Amino acid sequence: MIARTPPMGWNTWNTFGADINEKMILETVDTIVEQGYKDAGYEYIVIDDCWLLMDRDENGDLVTDPEKFPHGMKYVADYIHSKGLKFGMYSCAGVRTCQGFPSSYDHEYQDARLFARIGIDFLKYDYCNFPNYANNKNRYLTMSMALKSTGRDILFSACNWGKGEPWNWMRSIGAHMYRSTGDIIDTYESFANIIRLQIDNMNANSPGCFNDIDMLTVGMYGKGHVSRESSCTFDEYATQFAFWCFSGAPLMMGCDIRDVDDGCKKLLLNKHLIAINQDLECRPLYQANGTTKDYPIMIRFLENGEFALAFFNLKDADRTLEMPFPDLGIQYHSGVGVDLTEILLTEDRIGETEHFGIRRDDMRIRVKAHSCRIFRAKLVTL
Ligand code: GLA
Repeated sequence: MIARTPPMGWNTWNTFGADINEKMILETVDTIVEQGYKDAGYEYIVIDDCWLLMDRDENGDLVTDPEKFPHGMKYVADYIHSKGLKFGMYSCAGVRTCQGFPSSYDHEYQDARLFARIGIDFLKYDYCNFPNYANNKNRYLTMSMALKSTGRDILFSACNWGKGEPWNWMRSIGAHMYRSTGDIIDTYESFANIIRLQIDNMNANSPGCFNDIDMLTVGMYGKGHVSRESSCTFDEYATQFAFWCFSGAPLMMGCDIRDVDDGCKKLLLNKHLIAINQDLECRPLYQANGTTKDYPIMIRFLENGEFALAFFNLKDADRTLEMPFPDLGIQYHSGVGVDLTEILLTEDRIGETEHFGIRRDDMRIRVKAHSCRIFRAKLVTL
């Protein structure tokens, strides 16, 4: 099954934009393998926009830019496969890609055949320059069918930025993940806004198809294509990664992982958060009644009978957040308590956990501005 759990990998766009080439990709592949990312679950290496020449060849096929990829794309695909990883490429449902390169509108089957010959395992399919007269659903369905027709297992990553509420239909046309928002940039405001916009739509997540809230900016610290003057702090990156994990979003890294600082590396490799993201039941989050989009408190049931509990403070001031347990279905007179272990997210203790204690009636905890606290929890009879 493709995308049994949220897809994990790395994509060129956030850091490199159009500045992509074979050497950089191969070095990244080596880093994924050698520095523990592959073992942590990251498997798809995706080349985004700008891998092409401006014109199709005499047969109408897309042509890889030979300056950027001197040995061709099959060579890149073979290298990635030889390392036990999977290869992703990019095209677009419109008449040109977002950066103006040729695109797959009315070439869906021809392009799918080319991608299958190269040996891709993943196709990101964008929405720029999409004709007004064309039908959004039909064109994503057409590429989905075209990929199927190749006989190759290809994860279909539909990227239409949330147009036409894709959480209601992308699963039904065969997509394995679908972008639900406009582009992320490397600022706190950008991803906090994505959280507020998509928190209600994460409930469509289940095996086979996931809401893609965009590539992570964790670790970019102002370096790269989607960076702006002010970047994020470590705590903000921890909030981003924690929400992506907790909500069951695909985890596509976007920083230059050949050159990521130690704190963010440990964050991206955090096995406690990744275990929640990759939990086999793939249950969506439940936001507790009465909690708001600025201070969401959420639980997520896990396959081993435990659950995870999250307190987010998306606003600009520190705050005490309170969760009365009856709102989580746990009454005081039940005689049942909650045994909590915190997944620590501060830079000095990232990767560690700490037993928090057993609580019976409610929880009041301090959560710093732009940050969150995440717990694993199990019920105990007192
Ligand atoms: C769109 C997508 C981005 C990226 C760029 C490439 O903006 O949403 O994720 O693929 O195109 O041009």
